[in-house]
Parts: sequence; C-alpha cells; structure tokens
Amino acid sequence: MRSIISITDLSPEELGALMATADDIIARPQEYAERMKHKKLATLFYEPSTRTRLSFEAAMYELGGQVIGFSEAASSSAAKGESVADTVRTISCYADIIAMRHPKEGAPMVAAMNASVPVINSGDGGHNHPTQTLADLYTIKREKGHLDGLNVGVCGDLKFGRTVHSLIEAMSRYDGVQFTMISPEELKVPSYVKQHLKNRQIPYTQTTDFVSALPQIDILYMTRVQRERFFNEDDYVRLKDSYVLTPQMLTGAKEDLIIMHPLPRVNEISVAIDRDPRACYFKQVLYGKYMRMALILMLLEEKR
Ligand code: CP
Repeated sequence: MRSIISITDLSPEELGALMATADDIIARPQEYAERMKHKKLATLFYEPSTRTRLSFEAAMYELGGQVIGFSEAASSSAAKGESVADTVRTISCYADIIAMRHPKEGAPMVAAMNASVPVINSGDGGHNHPTQTLADLYTIKREKGHLDGLNVGVCGDLKFGRTVHSLIEAMSRYDGVQFTMISPEELKVPSYVKQHLKNRQIPYTQTTDFVSALPQIDILYMTRVQRERFFNEDDYVRLKDSYVLTPQMLTGAKEDLIIMHPLPRVNEISVAIDRDPRACYFKQVLYGKYMRMALILMLLEEKR
C-alpha cells in the first residue's frame, strides 16, 4: 500500500509510465471503463476546489468506480473537533483510496500514516500539490513533445504557490532544464526550493522584470497571488496584480512558447490571451483528469 504525498514519491520512470497510461486512456477509453468497478474513491476536501476534486471524481467515474466524500470541513466531523487521523481511519472502512486537500501543510502525510488505504495529497497549504504536477508534466509532454532542455518560467506568487514548488521539484529531474523565477521580492520561492536547485546544480535566475525575462522562456507557468495564505489583506491588495499577462507582452515571446496556469485564474492572464494558440491552461485541466485516472489505476492495481 502506497501513498503519494510529494511528486518525488514517483520516480521519473513511474512518471513516464503514468503518461503512457494517460496516452492509452485517451486512445482507448472503452478499455478502461470498468477497471475500477466496485472500487470507491473518497474525496476529503477541507479547502475549496473546483478542478482537483471534480477531476478526481470524474476520473473515478470514467474508470467505472464510485465516489464518496465531503467538499468542506464544515460538513464533516472535523467541525466537531475530529482529528485527521481518526477521520482517515474511519474512511478506510468505506473507501479503497483517499484524495485529501487540507489547509495545513503535512496533513495528508498524517493521513497516510493512519489510513489503511492509499492517500493522495491533493494540495496541503502552501506546500505541495503533486497531482497538479502530474497534469503540468503531461501538458508539457503533449504540447512540447519532451520534458528536457527547457527554460521553465514561473511567475507570480512563488512563495505560497504550492503548484510551483511541486513543478520545480519535478522538472529539475529532467536533463538540461533551467528555471526563470519571476516574482515580487516578497513572494520569492522559499529557501528550501532554492537549496534543492543549488544541491542539484540546476541553473536558475530570479527577477522582478517579467517583460525582459519573457523572450528566453519555453514554458510560462503563471500563478495567482494566494489570498488565503496572507496574514494581512493590505499586503494581498498591494501584490495581487504584480503581473498581468497581456497580448502586447507576448510580442517578444517565442512562437512555440506554451502558457500554463494551474487555475483558478483571478487577474494574472488577460482573457484576450485565451485565443492565443500558445494558451494551454484549459488543456491542462483535461490532461489532469487523464493523469489522475492513471494514478488511481497505478495505486489500486499495484495494491491488488
Ligand atoms: N489547480 C487547482 O488545484 O485547482 P482547484 O483549487 O480548483 O482544485
């Protein structure tokens, strides 16, 4: 029995296998329509979500399985003071696999230590979001054809943006990748992320100048400023529109750039960009569902 808490819980070979399974699901969906028959997924979401929860649920239904769960802590016994450990011991009696989102960093790890079924971290505070990274890696693979030799630009809230932390960890395992990190001073990546890059001797630059950085970038990964992680609303208001991508700004960008965003978008990408063929953020949503299908299959068939 195995849980996925960080993207590094999956080896590069396993990531490749998940992408191959996702390709096969797209090519032959009927072959997968009953693979999870009589299996149940529990979605335990203590924080709001549109994509991750519904993507997991759609993934399980498309595999022929069933879904139970809650979408806010207030509708679970967490509101009465129940611990994560007791909740997942209980849910292990009802479901075969758990997808958990929680505002506290490390909560899915606690869940994995107490559950008797696999737990998938579906976002823990400002820490990690490995299944978003599965969506991101598969989008890059499908749209660029490869994952190596790329200049990955990450822009926005690099301090609290858990999808950025997971993406940097994942992409740093591919040859010839470098990072361009664009953020306000206050929202730079945490030092542990930089240390990880230094330890692996992976080149990176940090800048506040988005327009000057853009022409060098192959993958532009935009993020919203994470309002829910700020202690002070005034700081959020001051920083929220630090970077807004507009069509004019793309004048100097590469023709084969791909523009990604984990979503939800607030104001960081002008809606006019949606018509640009380089905009991939809604494809990313669809690719995420196929990768979650592949992950559920891997964890439950491995367990079997
Ligand atoms: N990308 C992402 O995690 O979106 P949700 O918060 O809607 O799940």
